[in-house]
This record gives sequence, structure tokens and C-alpha cells, in this order.
Amino acid sequence: MTEKSSSIDRSDLLSERLPGHLAIIMDGNGRWAKARMLPRIMGHRKGVQTVQAIVEECSELGIKFLTLYAFSAENWLRPKTEVTALMMLLKKYIKMEVPRMMRNNIRFRTIGNLKELPEDIQAELENAISETASNNGMTLTLALSYGGRQELVNAAKSFAAKVIAGEQRIDDLDESTFASFLYTDNIPDPDLLIRTGGEMRISNFLLWQLAYSELYFTETSWPEFSLKELYKALLDYQARERRFGLTGEQVRNLM
Ligand code: IPE
Ligand code: IPE
Ligand code: MG
Repeated sequence: MTEKSSSIDRSDLLSERLPGHLAIIMDGNGRWAKARMLPRIMGHRKGVQTVQAIVEECSELGIKFLTLYAFSAENWLRPKTEVTALMMLLKKYIKMEVPRMMRNNIRFRTIGNLKELPEDIQAELENAISETASNNGMTLTLALSYGGRQELVNAAKSFAAKVIAGEQRIDDLDESTFASFLYTDNIPDPDLLIRTGGEMRISNFLLWQLAYSELYFTETSWPEFSLKELYKALLDYQARERRFGLTGEQVRNLM
């Protein structure tokens, strides 16, 4: 850890400039384990502990939406043993977390093609969603069996079906109508995307929604991503000027 990050604290953050929606690509579990001569699944296990710490902290900081990329549509192609182990971990996590979500007033949601998940996990997820439905603190969204391109294709199909049924008109389609057909309906676009584990790519995550998000990449692996690392990313975000196509002068005049 650099000297700067070791001195960063929660109190360095400006609460009025926190991202309304933080999305995270939690990467580097396998390499973290391999570097320690451990099986990859031990990295995923350690990663769950990071999830717990980061979820709790984001909720305490007052972040309204936290979205975590937990399993991609492409991750099904991993060795069966790893996929099975990940599913078991997921089930255990959801079961264990519901009481904590209730205590922290967290509302739970999912995005992705849930139908591909084992049925017992689908049931566990549905239970967590309905139990936490009336909580109004942070919304925690897990992306599971999620792929951005698949999401866009599904949205196009759903819209086309409505047109055929006479419930939608092609001419009325605009960005916000299209967005309402995505998994993320009623979730604002991410303000900040963090990717741990050193890769600088999006890996099919939230392709539509990330159009104007700030991106933050760190070499730190997910199992090692600490609260200080989170503060560091948030501080970096707070120092940025979001221009949305305008000039810097225009943006500063609007403030
Ligand atoms: C991210 O860690 C977790 C999932 C994709 C499920 P990885 O398992 O991709 O870890 P690396 O990238 O191999 O280190
Ligand atoms: C992205 O990580 C998916 C998740 C974090 C769930 P990957 O490890 O699957 O991404 P690639 O394959 O390296 O791009
Ligand atoms: Mg990876």
C-alpha cells in the first residue's frame, strides 16, 4: 500500500459527492489464491468476506445503489468444479446475508438471466428479494449469469413483442423507454465503476448503463480490496469533473 492510501480515512470523503450508484467488477480471486498456492475456490471464499465488508461500508456511507458483478454469462464456461463451488458459495452467502440486510435496511435485487441458475438458488434469491422488498436504505444488486449483450438482445426482443402485441409503437421508442426493458429498470446508471484485479476491460458488464460512468481500475485483487482501497477509489472519483459532452466552463457555470 502506498503512503497516501494508508493515511486515507472515511472522513476524507465528501458525503455530498459520493456516487449515487457504485458498480464493481470483483476480479482477481483466482490469481490471489494461486499466488498463495491455494485452490481458486479459496480466493472466492476470501472474496465473500470482502463483499460483506464493502456492502456494509457502502450502506453506512449512504451510497444508494451498489451493484456487484458476481457471475457472468461467460463464467458458465469455467471448469464444472469451479462453477459448482461458486454456486454453493452463492447459496450460502444469500442465506447468511438476509438477516444482515434486514438489520442494515438493505434492499436486495438481481440482474441477469436467473433462469440459468440452479433452482434451489433461484428460490433462495427470490426469498431474499421478497424479504427485503420494503427496505428503503441501499439497494444491493447482484449480477448473476449476467451479460450486457444478452441483456440488450433481450430488451430488443421484449420491445418487439410489445410492438407486435400492439402495446408499443416503434416511433415512440426512445432511450428511456428502451432502458425500461433492461434488467436495471428503476436503477440509475452507475456513477462510478471499480474493477479490481488489474485488468482494464468491461467484460460484458452493463454495456448500456456504463455509457457515462467514471471508470476506476486497481491492481489490488478483490480478496485484498480493503475499506481504505474503497475510500481511495471514492476520493479519486470525487476529484473528477464529469462533463457529459459539455465543456469544463459550461459544467462549472452550472454548479
Ligand atoms: C472473479 O475472480 C470472480 C468471478 C469471476 C466469479 P476470478 O475468478 O475471475 O479471478 P481471476 O481473474 O482468475 O484471478
Ligand atoms: C468478470 O471477470 C466477471 C466477474 C467478475 C463476475 P472475469 O474474470 O470473468 O473476466 P475476464 O474473463 O477476465 O474478462
Ligand atoms: Mg477474472
